[in-house]
Amino acid sequence: MVGRSQSFDPEKPMTYSTPSKEEQLEPCPCGSGKTFEKCCQEGGEQKKPDKEIAPTAAERSQLVAMLNAGHHAELEHVIKALLERCPDAAFVWNLFGVSLEMQGKDGLSALQKAMTLLPNDAEIQNNIGNVLGDRGRAAEAEAYYRQALVLNPDFFGAYGNLGGMLRTQGKMDEALACFQQQLRLAPGNTVVAHHIAAITGNNTERAPGQYVEKVFDEYADEFDAHLQQVLGYDAPERLVALVTGHLTPPPQKWNVLDLGCGTGLVGLAIAPFARQLVGVDLSSKMLEKAQARKIYQRLERLDLLAMMHGEKSSSYDVIILADVFIYIGKVDEIISEMKRILCPGGVVAFSIETLDALPADGPSQGDPLEYQLKDTGRYTQSVGYMGRLASANGFLINAMVATQIRVEGGKPVNGYLALWQS
Ligand SMILES: C[S@@+](CC[C@H](N)C(=O)[O-])C[C@H]1O[C@@H](n2cnc3c(N)ncnc32)[C@H](O)[C@@H]1O
Repeated sequence: MVGRSQSFDPEKPMTYSTPSKEEQLEPCPCGSGKTFEKCCQEGGEQKKPDKEIAPTAAERSQLVAMLNAGHHAELEHVIKALLERCPDAAFVWNLFGVSLEMQGKDGLSALQKAMTLLPNDAEIQNNIGNVLGDRGRAAEAEAYYRQALVLNPDFFGAYGNLGGMLRTQGKMDEALACFQQQLRLAPGNTVVAHHIAAITGNNTERAPGQYVEKVFDEYADEFDAHLQQVLGYDAPERLVALVTGHLTPPPQKWNVLDLGCGTGLVGLAIAPFARQLVGVDLSSKMLEKAQARKIYQRLERLDLLAMMHGEKSSSYDVIILADVFIYIGKVDEIISEMKRILCPGGVVAFSIETLDALPADGPSQGDPLEYQLKDTGRYTQSVGYMGRLASANGFLINAMVATQIRVEGGKPVNGYLALWQS
């Protein structure tokens, strides 16, 4: 469920159906040893069957809290036990489906079960849309989101999900209408404004911090597996290889700054060469993952430019940004701050996406645009722009390697891996 809104309302009333014929012949859940038909159903015992005990409001809140905390495996375990007691609680099946999906397991049938129990629930329809979208079944996902919006015409998250799904299918006008509808529901929302800018070609300078935070807080649990196994992403390892191929680590090792460190994939690759490894990121959920690796001496939740402003001059040997400039178009100030905090002879390694087709004979020069916000919500920089910034700030370009950065929707995303020396 990459970067999409999921919905759970712990206060939502539950529904319970009466026991089926088969269930009536099963041993009574009250533990009497008789069949249900001859026991609680008949009123033979005074106890009510356990299966009729609904999850309490406190239990529902606790389940949602576990989901929000990312404790998916534990949540799955708790839900399985709860479903023994209340097998017809649509809310629990809904949560079960999402917790399975968040672990990379198949949660679709659990969500479908929730829908059977509660057919007119907008949130369940929305979540099924998310799962189908992740399976590449865009048209079906679209239908579920539309149904969610029929059931709840003010469903902010479903408009965003539908907008994203329409954009994936190239239906830009309809996607724009969804994001505009979101903006009507939440005027001033900077995340939505960024989607609208991306679709309308409004070339803003950078993605708003709230947008980056939202995307990566929602993505953190799946990030490593999705990027590495599905999107063929290996920029962290390749950037570190560029650095170590060019600079030999001194015996006391390097002071390294990982800007936009995410879950710490760069950190993993460079830790063996680092005396001190510092990471900064806007997403607290990504930082939790990086922290769990126990390889960073310092992690900061800050905008990377604000963080650099607080660092001493000439304090780092190596600065790395893997797949980070795609969220910032205009990078002039970042490049000059990197120059300030790098030691003389230090290096910066980064990746960029580019709109340019891969040139047969090396990087193209003199592109008319410096940076561009694409309809995906991400930025590209031109090689000419980056080259001008390198020379304006006194960097020597050691490498500018045209390459495939990752795969997206089955298509290659082209870009460059760069190594500049101070
Ligand atoms: C695609 S991920 C890459 C993460 C990591 N560098 C890697 O290669 O695995 C981009 C990361 O940059 C972070 N990011 C984007 N813009 C940022 C900014 N202005 N300040 C701090 N972090 C930012 C995001 O939160 C996200 O974790």
